[in-house]
Amino acid sequence: MKGIILHGGHGTRLRPLTHTGPKQLLPIANKPMSQYCLESLRDAGIKDIAIIIGGTGSNKVQEYYGNGEKFGVKISYVFQDSPRGIAHAIRLCKEFVNGEKVVVFLGDNILKKSIADYVKKFNDSNASASILLCEVDNPTQFGIADVKDGVIKKIMEKPKNPPTNLAVTGIYLLTDTIFDIIDRLKPSWRNEYEITDALQMLLEEGHKIVYNTVTDYWKDTGTPHDIIHANHVILNDMKPYFDGTKEENVTISGNIMVGAGTVIKNGSKIIGPVIIGQNCKIGPNSTIGPNISIGYDSKISGCNIENSIIMSGCDINGDFTIKDSIIAFNCEIKKSDTLSKIFLLGEGTKISL
Ligand code: DAU
Repeated sequence: MKGIILHGGHGTRLRPLTHTGPKQLLPIANKPMSQYCLESLRDAGIKDIAIIIGGTGSNKVQEYYGNGEKFGVKISYVFQDSPRGIAHAIRLCKEFVNGEKVVVFLGDNILKKSIADYVKKFNDSNASASILLCEVDNPTQFGIADVKDGVIKKIMEKPKNPPTNLAVTGIYLLTDTIFDIIDRLKPSWRNEYEITDALQMLLEEGHKIVYNTVTDYWKDTGTPHDIIHANHVILNDMKPYFDGTKEENVTISGNIMVGAGTVIKNGSKIIGPVIIGQNCKIGPNSTIGPNISIGYDSKISGCNIENSIIMSGCDINGDFTIKDSIIAFNCEIKKSDTLSKIFLLGEGTKISL
């Protein structure tokens, strides 16, 4: 069985974070979100994986994952010239798939549960496809399945009047029948070759599609709020470790992961769940947490930070509070003594003062 991870697209809803790289490389608990997909495939025994790249910073994906050896898998890269749809991206992998069954994982989907059981069941079945459905509060934002008595009747993309709240998650288990279907697909109203249209065509042509319902955590990390939420859930589940050092008058509570070379300075408070990477300086007199990821080589002093992601190489210094924020690599935030502020901001930046 093969695996495909979709790592293309423009990530427009996450600008300016995506001006310099693909959204699927944005870190959740200090690990690129697409690495969770890769590990999920690998842990289900799928080690031959194609990654679809295209768009800003595709080279960063290749630099990070390389040939896959470091992650215990073999990676091939497939280039998509522009984001013409999920089905289009899958079609580009026909040669790679070479007649086998395949699991497609959207690189911005986070699924907490292992997919191993779904993969095994699908391998042993004669179904043409298997999808994972998950109840959502906002069904107009997803592919939706109409299900009656355990049978899928219809699959549609972002319907105005959804018949159910069962979202089709971005994990698709497919046979190579899908390629013939995609070849006959027409672009949708948003000018994309939709995987949901391909699945619907499979149904209409009498092929069997089975499903499982995900009751554990699943998130399509489309917005900053979604990313911060996924960060919180993953941090809560991590095993604690403390490889750094702490000075006097430091209080630590909850689930904490601290990397080697990191120093927590005098008068600081860390409220878990919090992950801090290697070689950071936290404090003096800072309150960090709950729900914080801080990358490596960052310095934070004097401030309070809650429910946020601070990437590597940041320097944040001053007596202010930051919350519900995502701060990208190498940012500097300092309190100035004057009322006037000096800004150098990328396109699409949002600031509340
Ligand atoms: O997350 C689940 C949803 O994903 C499903 O419920 C929908 O049926 C499905 O269409 C998809 O909806 P989105 O509108 O959220 O898809 P998005 O454009 O965000 O693309 C999903 C991922 O695939 C994202 O990581 C970017 C990547 N992608 C997307 C397109 C259109 C590509 O690599 N190439 C593409 O051409």
